[in-house]
Amino acid sequence: MTPPQVHRLDPPAKQGPQEPEEKIIIRGGKPLHGQVRIYGAKNAVLKMMAAALLAKDVTVLKNVPNLTDVHMMAEVIRHLGAKVEIGNNEVSIDARNLTEIEAPYELVSQLRASFVVLGPLLARCREAKVSLPGGCAIGERRIDLHERGLKLLGAEVGIDHGYVYASAEKLVGTRIYLDRPSNGATENIMLAAVLAEGQTIIENAAQDPEIVNLADCVNAMGGKITGAGTYQIVIDGVPLEEMHGAVVDTIPDRLEAGTFLYACMATGGDIVIDGVNAHHLYAVISKINDMGAECSIFAPDTIKIKCTGRLKPADYTTVPYPGFPTDLQAPIMSVLATCDGTSIITETIYENRFMQVGELRRMGADIQLKANAAIIKGVPKLMGAEVKSSDLRAAASLIIAGLGAEGVTEVTGLSHLDRGYDGLEERLRGLGADIWRR
Ligand code: EPU
Repeated sequence: MTPPQVHRLDPPAKQGPQEPEEKIIIRGGKPLHGQVRIYGAKNAVLKMMAAALLAKDVTVLKNVPNLTDVHMMAEVIRHLGAKVEIGNNEVSIDARNLTEIEAPYELVSQLRASFVVLGPLLARCREAKVSLPGGCAIGERRIDLHERGLKLLGAEVGIDHGYVYASAEKLVGTRIYLDRPSNGATENIMLAAVLAEGQTIIENAAQDPEIVNLADCVNAMGGKITGAGTYQIVIDGVPLEEMHGAVVDTIPDRLEAGTFLYACMATGGDIVIDGVNAHHLYAVISKINDMGAECSIFAPDTIKIKCTGRLKPADYTTVPYPGFPTDLQAPIMSVLATCDGTSIITETIYENRFMQVGELRRMGADIQLKANAAIIKGVPKLMGAEVKSSDLRAAASLIIAGLGAEGVTEVTGLSHLDRGYDGLEERLRGLGADIWRR
């Protein structure tokens, strides 16, 4: 096993407008070999940073990746009056004194995930004003379920001039059914209910591992949440005085793990990924084996993959966890682009998550879009090209495509990549890829 890699959490350098745009340059066709360790999950740590607002104390999060999103979330939390320190793989949040109840547009518009401060702020301060995050490149991204859940807990919630205003004399536990298992709505309602009077039950809750990590974090801080990771989450409210600080580990990033597995499939080769929770990746591993690669769980925290010859096509449908994740839809598309036959991807979570298709076509992929499906006819090889990423997972998809392609690929739009992947190109280089940032 490789020792854990210690990486500093330095804010990524800001680019001046006159500087040429950074790009990742990949000379494709090198099979990956070796071992890589998976870092902490972005989508868990950002929500746990918001949960730290629920205690008049200091909460320390460990195994934190160095991502622009983590630094942006720190800005949001600082704006509310908490002190945030970012150090070696950890973030410490001192929320003893909050001075603001407003998360402004300038901050929330840069990081949608920061909308999750709404629930804890409302619970702790009885009042919150949080900018509406708005849509984004991948879809409309509504918040109606957040709003409805908080109203059922007894809050008055209104939308005015682009802000959500929520207030409540007190929140009172109740039963809340979600029309769909939204991650964000589950998180906001769960965090608001932590300090509510009595018991809240969320039915049809999101079951993702990041929700379990969040519930474990709240419980370590003195909260009482059971059932996270299942369809039904039960939250027994506790008074603010019973909440305290805690030291909490961030779970490994299953989406980063999937990205490395697909990079290996695109190039051929064999790699070992460790520091992962294999249990979070059953849907991903099972489909990889259907495609003819050998992927196995070597230990609960270690997955091995070996790819020889051309892979078979497969159909994918994105569904809420434990199904195949929408966040790996763009990355797997780059692998399917060179499989031996036709594959179909059906995207059911977002309305507009095929932004990578136009760029993959520039690399020679044969992909047609029909409503929410992409029909991918495998070609023998992709060709290197200049491509631009439109969102985080599209960026990963283009890098995977470039690793497998013939010739040189140049990927721009790296601000998206840096939101969710920490040192991806260095770590791919460690596996033998010819990939550089300039
Ligand atoms: N939705 C509604 N109403 C709501 C809430 C959601 O209709 O009130 C819809 C959304 O419009 C969307 C779908 O439900 O079409 C899923 O939304 P969800 O609330 O589950 O997503 P989220 O919490 O906004 C998180 C991740 C996303 C990931 C989704 C789905 C974070 C910071 N983001 O978003 O991650 O795609 O869950 O698993 O946790 C990424 O990491 O690249 C990323 C986009």
